[in-house]
Amino acid sequence: MSVGRKMRAVTPPQVAERKGGVPLVCLTAYTTPVARLVDPHCDVVLVGDSVGMVLHGLESTLGVTLDMMILHGRAVRRGLSRALLVVDLPFGTYEESPEQAFRNAARLMAETDCAAVKLEGGVAMADTIAFLTARGIPVMAHIGLTPQSVHAFGGYKVQGRGEAAERVLDDARAVADAGAFSVVLEKIPADLAREVTRAIPIPTIGIGASVDCDGQILVVDDMLGAFAEFRPKFVKRYADHAVTASEAIGAYADDVRERRFPAAEHVFSDEAASPVSGGAA
Ligand code: KIV
Repeated sequence: MSVGRKMRAVTPPQVAERKGGVPLVCLTAYTTPVARLVDPHCDVVLVGDSVGMVLHGLESTLGVTLDMMILHGRAVRRGLSRALLVVDLPFGTYEESPEQAFRNAARLMAETDCAAVKLEGGVAMADTIAFLTARGIPVMAHIGLTPQSVHAFGGYKVQGRGEAAERVLDDARAVADAGAFSVVLEKIPADLAREVTRAIPIPTIGIGASVDCDGQILVVDDMLGAFAEFRPKFVKRYADHAVTASEAIGAYADDVRERRFPAAEHVFSDEAASPVSGGAA
């Protein structure tokens, strides 16, 4: 059973081969039911450390732990049969040394059965990426706005404008040379994202970047409209879950207060349902 799934699943080399081809479809997921929904549509499913903000109410991703990533990684694994599972290394679990990164990446892979890890950073992380890839750990890099550095950036600001473009290009070349199989470009000018995509041999996956990237990723809850007030420019909303859910919960509350719920069809009689009618006992 698990051998069958692995035979069909998208692999990191297959993602790398998609450079310049049909754009890679990527979304985040943090739970089994959402993983089941996104799996048939996606090439890559990322258990991002955004889970801390999306599901746990944290102010930033800095408080996310390896144990949280493992818990959510295992949940998502159970819901995937086709897409490549990538799990984020959270803040503080890889920056100290390549050895620290290897130890924690190996734990993530062993305990979640993910096939690749993602980490933030360009030139500064090149040695670590080379160390991991030389030891059998496929790495998706993440450059531009790297949310784990939010305090160093002074907020979630666009990166790479003006002279800072050269730094993003250097980061992109460094992670590609180090052996990353793909790289997320977050919140950089569209022209720069296009230039980076042309400059490096691995697929670029954009979020707030450019339609010319080799793929796109969004936080699934953002594109489903799970947060009524959160409307960043780079997110296209494909649904309005916050509105739909709020209306449904309000209707339930009204029904309970007015004694309209439960109705006759929701309660049980003292007779067992007949096998012919098939009702739940
Ligand atoms: O943590 C995350 O969800 C991410 C994506 C937005 C790229 O890093």
